[in-house]
Amino acid sequence: MKVAVIGVGHVGLTTAACLAADGHEVVGLDDDEARIDDLQEGAMPFYEPGLDDLVRAEAKAGRLRFSHEPAEAIPGAEVAFICVGTPTRADGSPDLSAVQRAAATVATHAQSPTVVAEKSTVPVRTGERIKQALALEAQAQGGASAHEVVSNPEFLREGTAVEDTLRPDRVVVGADTERAHAVMRRLWQPLLDRHDCPYVATDVRTAELIKHASNAFLATKISFINSVARVCERAGADVETVADAMGHDPRIGRAFLNAGLGYGGSCFPKDVQAFLHIAGDLGYDFGLLRETERVNREARLWPVAQLRRLLWNLSDKTVAVLGVAFKPGTDDVRAAPALDVIEELSAEGATVRIHDPVALPNVRDRFPEVTRAEDVTSCLDGAHAVLLATEWDEYVQLPPARLAQLLAYPIVVDARNAWDADALRAQGLTVARVGAPQVEVLPGL
Ligand code: UGA
Repeated sequence: MKVAVIGVGHVGLTTAACLAADGHEVVGLDDDEARIDDLQEGAMPFYEPGLDDLVRAEAKAGRLRFSHEPAEAIPGAEVAFICVGTPTRADGSPDLSAVQRAAATVATHAQSPTVVAEKSTVPVRTGERIKQALALEAQAQGGASAHEVVSNPEFLREGTAVEDTLRPDRVVVGADTERAHAVMRRLWQPLLDRHDCPYVATDVRTAELIKHASNAFLATKISFINSVARVCERAGADVETVADAMGHDPRIGRAFLNAGLGYGGSCFPKDVQAFLHIAGDLGYDFGLLRETERVNREARLWPVAQLRRLLWNLSDKTVAVLGVAFKPGTDDVRAAPALDVIEELSAEGATVRIHDPVALPNVRDRFPEVTRAEDVTSCLDGAHAVLLATEWDEYVQLPPARLAQLLAYPIVVDARNAWDADALRAQGLTVARVGAPQVEVLPGL
């Protein structure tokens, strides 16, 4: 099938490449000309493991093209995906102006009835607004809209986006007519033929809600375990063992029960805020989500409190922060917990050195005064403490003896509970872990 993907960010580019891999003829459309030029040359706009190879292979096979001209993408497309950004406005509601512009682009350039598929995460009932935008544009051009609107939410994670899209846990399609359902079923049939997963066919509003409910639930699960961590710290218990034992219950599950710095990234913070706002607009106070947000903000305060306790004054100390990306496997620093931590440490007068395998260029402007270390060794060498903020494999695999040898003071703050604390302690290091009994430096003094 011929498909247009409007907006080639993380979701759009991955969707475009994976649809092409399943045999569709896809054009990625974006008004960022520099981004389109780069993609035409085979250069990726962001780091996503495996996506570069897939994009290049599909482009070479002639199934994937890129353009900033709607006239090259929209005419003839049976399905046009809207994958544009929905940033948060000052009041917490999502800014949907790019979604409306994308709808207008389809209305202006489509030459036959097109199924307009929302993939951007949007508030429930946005489908109706898109339909209205299509109708108004058509009317302005002296005709009537024959396009249909469906919701086809995306559940991919950054860092595993290709795998999540090629082999999803479920495909959700919300449509209000048989015809639109039939088109979308035909689009996803090649995926369903090679990968066995539930296909949830529902109405547009329900599909829109599934996405927000899923992300809000996962974020709440993280805040729940972070609250349990706070209780464990006060009670002298261990949150990892609590989470493992809870996770054995299939009704709970172990995934997303890792206590740490809380959630960041471009999705959870924005979606929790948006869902709270949407519910409020509909007359329901979803207070649980406000608490999810509060606990998440609190989680970011944990590492500096530990450093203060273990180092006393921070003003004349050097702290090595390992990881700035919001999670491993990505160079994305949007709402990354590490950024708040670095800011707080700097505000207390600490000298901060940071390292990340891929994300450092993305914080250059934000922290011009912070030392961006070229490698882990120079980041750690002579620092008074190390703070593990993002659990990249490269850091998790560091030999404990190496840490002990490089640090000036033997202080380790593991904000992701990713290191083997016993192995670190065996090297004489003092280790603070999330949701664990508090440790003292030089016990016995
Ligand atoms: C999230 C969802 O997992 C995807 O299903 C969804 O499609 C995507 O948002 C989206 O809406 O586009 P992503 O933002 O890539 O994906 O990241 P996650 O892997 O979900 O992690 C989010 C944050 O939660 C990270 O900061 C991570 O460190 C944190 N986290 C995750 C925890 O603190 N503890 C955990 O147990 C799990």
